[in-house]
Amino acid sequence: MSATGDQTPGATHGPGDPDVPAKARPNVVLGVGGGIAAYKVCDLLRRLTESGHSVRVVPTAAALEFVGAATWAALSGQPVTADPFDNVQEVPHVRIGKAAELVVVAPATANLIAKAAHGLADDLLTNTLLTARCPILFAAAMHTEMWEHPATQANVATLRSRGITVLDPAVGRLTGADTGRGRLPEPSEIFAISQLMLADEAARAAGQSVADLTGKHVLISAGGTREHLDPVRYLGNSSSGKQGYALARIAAARGAKVTLVAANSELPDPAGVQVVPVTSTRDLYDEITGRAGDADAIVMAAAPADFRPVDVAEHKIKKTSDGSVPAVSLVQNPDILQTISHDRRRADQVIVGFAAETGDAEHDVLELGRAKLERKGCDLLVVNDVSGGKVFGSDNNEAVILDREGNALPVPSGSKDALAGVIWNLVATHWH
Ligand SMILES: Cc1cc2nc3c(=O)[nH]c(=O)nc-3n(C[C@H](O)[C@H](O)[C@H](O)COP(=O)(O)O)c2cc1C
Repeated sequence: MSATGDQTPGATHGPGDPDVPAKARPNVVLGVGGGIAAYKVCDLLRRLTESGHSVRVVPTAAALEFVGAATWAALSGQPVTADPFDNVQEVPHVRIGKAAELVVVAPATANLIAKAAHGLADDLLTNTLLTARCPILFAAAMHTEMWEHPATQANVATLRSRGITVLDPAVGRLTGADTGRGRLPEPSEIFAISQLMLADEAARAAGQSVADLTGKHVLISAGGTREHLDPVRYLGNSSSGKQGYALARIAAARGAKVTLVAANSELPDPAGVQVVPVTSTRDLYDEITGRAGDADAIVMAAAPADFRPVDVAEHKIKKTSDGSVPAVSLVQNPDILQTISHDRRRADQVIVGFAAETGDAEHDVLELGRAKLERKGCDLLVVNDVSGGKVFGSDNNEAVILDREGNALPVPSGSKDALAGVIWNLVATHWH
């Protein structure tokens, strides 16, 4: 049951790539379980090899029922087998795990989770899991019933108690016509978490701990709310939700329990994050104020509509033959940031707002930001200059973070993940 591929066709960097020194390539073991989502893991493998990792794929026998060894071997450029008795002279059941800097198991089946929790070692992957001393990431995928079964939940708790990161399955369409919690988190999300875990390990090796949000519950809002005029039209804005999703992803990677209230975002659920979808500002208000009492930190990265139509037409508003246009009367929405800041239920709660400003004739963006921080009563305000359509939808962000002591921290242009990291660093200083 073995197959060997020598090179990585199409991969920018692969194990056979002479341009990338061997030491520069983190050694990743990609364990694949026998789930229907095994085919999606080809995309994860591609991302890992193309970003310069040396990836050894170790499937289970059941995984090879779904995707053949030839595919894994060709994409990774490394030998592939499920059997510890292949190439015994190389002692693969010990060597592969010991050489790993990160083990990612996806899809992590109920069976694999159970075997790992009980220390079984009856194939190459389970042997590898026992010999690896590096961070281990399980991305679970299975039917909702299997996931919710007390046996699986106890096994997941055992793995987590040993420091293994287990990503909950995402909610969505399952194998058949059914939907529920059970889907493999998106490969892009598993990849993002794997990169954060490698960076975390590097930081740990340098004596810095980045799992500094462990034990904290953070509540984040993202996206742009919509206020319907009729069943098909709405007033909205162009917020993509990327900054709020980045905040959720980074907080989860730093150990927090994360709830993300997402308004109309099309982004995949960040792995390991509870996502609550909403449409309008009032929906967002209800979800945030209802959950605020449990949160150690609240970051309001969503762009809520300030106004909504007084009336929502029951049917689509029709054009008239005389060319007249309907008048739209608006009413103000509740101010969520101000409400949660003024009704603060916990003294140690940290509240962060965002201000997307364009400046006006009399005030620049920062003056408007300072006035907003004062008016809203939050602890930190992340001020974005959005004049000319900057920031919305982009993968990069540039901001100035204001605090209540009058400090202004400029964060130069960089990824939204990087800005999220700076925001969590500042939030964490309130607790440590
Ligand atoms: C079509 C099909 C899809 C399956 N999908 C899953 C799944 O997503 N998650 C899971 O835990 N088991 C799933 N199973 C069951 C596993 O394949 C089975 O438990 C197997 O023993 C897992 O082996 P492994 O954990 O060694 O890979 C599926 C089985 C079939 C036939």
